[in-house]
Amino acid sequence: MTKITKICCIGAGYVGGPTMTVIAKKCPHIKVTVVDLNEERIAAWNDPDTNNIPVFEPGLSEVVAEARGRNLFFSTAVDEAIDEADMVFISVNTPTKTYGAGIGQAADLKWIELCARQIARVSKTDKIVVEKSTLPVRTASAIKDILAHTGSGCKFQILSNPEFLAEGTAIEDLNAPDRVLIGGDSTEEGKEAMQALVDIYANWVPRERILTTNIWSSELSKLTANAFLAQRVSSINSLSELCEKTEADISEVSRAIGTDSRIGPKFLKASVGFGGSCFQKDILNLVYIARSYGLQEVADYWEQVIIINDHQKKRFANEIIRTSYNTVNGKKIAFLGWAFKKDTNDTRESAAIYVADHLLFEQAKITVYDPKVQESQVYADLDYLRSRDPQENRFGLKVTMDPYEACKDAHAIAILTEWDEFKTYDWQRIYDSMLKPANVFDGRNLLDKEKLKAIGFQVKSIGTA
Ligand code: UDX
Ligand code: UDX
Repeated sequence: MTKITKICCIGAGYVGGPTMTVIAKKCPHIKVTVVDLNEERIAAWNDPDTNNIPVFEPGLSEVVAEARGRNLFFSTAVDEAIDEADMVFISVNTPTKTYGAGIGQAADLKWIELCARQIARVSKTDKIVVEKSTLPVRTASAIKDILAHTGSGCKFQILSNPEFLAEGTAIEDLNAPDRVLIGGDSTEEGKEAMQALVDIYANWVPRERILTTNIWSSELSKLTANAFLAQRVSSINSLSELCEKTEADISEVSRAIGTDSRIGPKFLKASVGFGGSCFQKDILNLVYIARSYGLQEVADYWEQVIIINDHQKKRFANEIIRTSYNTVNGKKIAFLGWAFKKDTNDTRESAAIYVADHLLFEQAKITVYDPKVQESQVYADLDYLRSRDPQENRFGLKVTMDPYEACKDAHAIAILTEWDEFKTYDWQRIYDSMLKPANVFDGRNLLDKEKLKAIGFQVKSIGTA
């Protein structure tokens, strides 16, 4: 039986970092080394003050403090870490392609392939290679192919072990996952490799929650899970628009349908639109794969989830413009929140970016406050869209670390992220400092609408008349 004593994880990002930290905590007998090409990122993971680690997740810095230096290591010595490990996790990013065939839809597997080639090149002993990154179905066969042609004589088993953690609750999700999914070959060696990974998770996850499947089912399950979750958000968001035209209230509709045990209450919160590194990318991937097999109807079906999400973001921006007497030119609009959801500093695909872009086209003056996102990240997100010159982004949008400053002299406030602290602000003070009429556009249905109205605000939330 394969017994794992050393693990290497390539990619110290939002997935690799927290996942490996929890494995190290739960398995003190295993040495876990997380490697990354990005030296700055590794230096931040090694910062003596664990509050400075590059990923913000409630509870993460405490676990890093406990395990780091004991059996958890962060390093840029990629080759050494791969070579000494019995098991190598690949947790590098797989962004949507920005060039060539499948542009804007297919996953760019460049990094995955580079990882496989690197593992092939440096390995001197047999290894189990685990796909942690979300990948299009059948990627494992490419990895297998590359590893099979190393000529080193080493044997490799490929497993798929998709991560289902959600950002902001990563530590909770890793400590007590609904399930762990492990896909592998049905050969003897494949089963043995799966068992080795099952044994690691069994240190803290009840055995009945560890599911084993064939590798293709495992890869497709991850895309499917994200597509279903995103579809729920787009479903409720599509109905939020209908609620605004009728006298229905989307929160009441969500509550009413959520009590049906077949539907369930989660992921029914109307919002300015979903963001995050996974939902859009994974659905685009699904759409691309379906099209590549000629399944037009299947592709169109899932694409609609993205279309509604884009519509929701645009609709929110247009509502701000419409309410501002059809022009935001030169008007100060305060953004509270930039992260794609609360309790994370991650901004990838955040709705805030697209809403800001839309308003900047209309020459609004935006001021952003987010408790965890840095100014450089906000500009990087906007510049990435290439909608205008970087200087123009800096001219049209400012970032401040003080929410009251952000709202001072503003015509309108837009809530883009559901940070709890926004609820505790002195809203009377904010009202007094704003231009009138003072508008609040609550893209998260977070604030107490009646209380704000009593102060004098005009409030627009999602999915109510
Ligand atoms: C990534 C994918 O986006 C997601 O689909 C997958 O499920 C898990 O991996 P995440 O951890 O959030 O998610 O990505 P990111 O924070 O970008 O981290 C990836 C890291 O890999 C980066 O730090 C990058 O520097 C590193 N990397 C990338 C390498 O070390 N080597 C490479 O060849 C490529
Ligand atoms: C998601 C999946 O939940 C996770 O299992 C997978 O591993 C990675 O992708 P994540 O993107 O971190 O996790 O966050 P999630 O909580 O799923 O939220 C995604 C987006 O949907 C956020 O922008 C969130 O604000 C939005 N959302 C979620 C809603 O608008 N309404 C809801 O009811 C739920």
